[in-house]
Amino acid sequence: MSSRPTLPEWQDLQDLSESDGQRHLRDLFAEDPGRFGRFSGEAAGLFVDYSKTRITSRVFEGLVALGKAVGIEARRDAMVAGERINVTENRAVLHVALRDTAKGKYLVDGVDVMGDIQTVLSRMEEFCGEVHNGTRTGATGKPLTTVVNIGIGGSDLGPVMVTEALKPYDIEGRRTFFVSNVDGTHMAQTLAQLDPETTLFVIASKTFTTQETMTNAESAKAWYLEKGGTEAGIANHFIALSTNEEAVSAFGIDTENMFPFWDWVGGRYSLWSAIGLPIALQLGWDNYRALLDGAAAMDRHFEAAPLEENLPALLGLIGVWHRSFLGMATNAVLPYDQYLHRLPAYLQQADMESNGKGVTLSGAAVSYPTGPILFGEPGTNGQHAFYQLIHQGTDVIPCDFIAPAQSHNPLGDHHEKLLANFLAQPEALMRGKTVTEVTTDLQAEGLEGHEIADLANHKVFPGNRPTVSILMEKLTPATLGALIALYEHRIFTQSVVWDINAYDQWGVEQGKVLAKSILPELKGGEATRHDASTAGLIEKIKAMRGM
Ligand code: F6P
Repeated sequence: MSSRPTLPEWQDLQDLSESDGQRHLRDLFAEDPGRFGRFSGEAAGLFVDYSKTRITSRVFEGLVALGKAVGIEARRDAMVAGERINVTENRAVLHVALRDTAKGKYLVDGVDVMGDIQTVLSRMEEFCGEVHNGTRTGATGKPLTTVVNIGIGGSDLGPVMVTEALKPYDIEGRRTFFVSNVDGTHMAQTLAQLDPETTLFVIASKTFTTQETMTNAESAKAWYLEKGGTEAGIANHFIALSTNEEAVSAFGIDTENMFPFWDWVGGRYSLWSAIGLPIALQLGWDNYRALLDGAAAMDRHFEAAPLEENLPALLGLIGVWHRSFLGMATNAVLPYDQYLHRLPAYLQQADMESNGKGVTLSGAAVSYPTGPILFGEPGTNGQHAFYQLIHQGTDVIPCDFIAPAQSHNPLGDHHEKLLANFLAQPEALMRGKTVTEVTTDLQAEGLEGHEIADLANHKVFPGNRPTVSILMEKLTPATLGALIALYEHRIFTQSVVWDINAYDQWGVEQGKVLAKSILPELKGGEATRHDASTAGLIEKIKAMRGM
């Protein structure tokens, strides 16, 4: 059993969860005019307001004390020092090194990895330059104007999210497609939009063994050859981003056309590595570099700021408070920016694959809830879909509201309206609406007696629903980089408090094995032992497919 709950700091918070944790935010704001100033901060171009979370001064102090007791700072320093903190895979975790080239030195097993990082970054920059200026062309001499990234999970979600978020920075005339799903529809629909002479396929896979990616890559190669491409032309039209040189060669890509990264880059933390190449191809090198620099600015804050002022650490601690002490099982991420429409999907992997764990670093069962269920949609769309449950449902769902103060598309008063909603929702979630307020409103509408009594309870909002508001001047490569790093370090902080490994993913690995064993059966092979439901479904599918 995990020993965290035996810590006096944990027990103090447990006690506070029954007193301060039950206070209504409306009262906390009324009592303390300085609350907003005390519970907000700024770093790397992001302003973070956490005053509408369910903390009091005592809870804040208790959380910081817990953070110190579990050694957040020491674990952070161990990560940055290249120690093998991913204990179940015996790997270092050094995505911070990829974006902090100014620091000069990052060691893994005593060896400085900075030279390797610089070499790959320079090759990426050079490659982008050549594609953009037309010195690197397709096999028939035409410019490579279209990129198709074939990858899944961390080899897809980061580049997809970033290229969507930074569309205003697109190089004119360039197109990037992402194919992730093994469902042939994803590939077929993409291929239908391509010209083989101007397309560059980027096969992105850390392991270069992932079933979905390898299947899609083979189909892309077959399509290219079918459309008149030649074996020799593959070198012009296929490149690989991977750690597995052998598998890249076996697939038929010359390792000259491979951009490597290293086992200390986790898949869901890899957009800062060679996996980011499609971003740089779409936005240009300077914008990709600015994304890395934005993340590095947040890293510096995370590495230097005391816990009391450390935004990722505080958000992590508050997340633990909501999840493990107040029993809130979910977290909604609500970007009030259409360009950030893939952020929730990206953060689902970052958070749920990292902290969806039930045993401690030493393998003992945890006795407290860990990683929350994360979901979200851009505002204001979500308001007309699932916010009802957030306002009046029986579960309390902490929400992150994210918005840029300035729009890339200042159309009429659209942005003011968007921001008005961005502000109104957290206020309403915090305040709620009392029965007295509801009654006054209904009276003003001319209702009386039993009409008011019938409706009042339905119109009451409990409020006291915690939210964090994250503001930036504008969504730029730098502020996006900082935002992603803010979440990465928040997730890390939570893993330290929960004493779990945020960097392995054994549950997903198991899924890969299971599907592989069923595949031959669907193709008509001998049935192996299954439960009755799975066996029955296999037979049904075969019958429906005329087998
Ligand atoms: O989804 C599981 C996972 O292992 C992720 O962690 C990873 O990002 C993804 O598969 C893709 O793996 P690869 O880059 O090796 O193809």
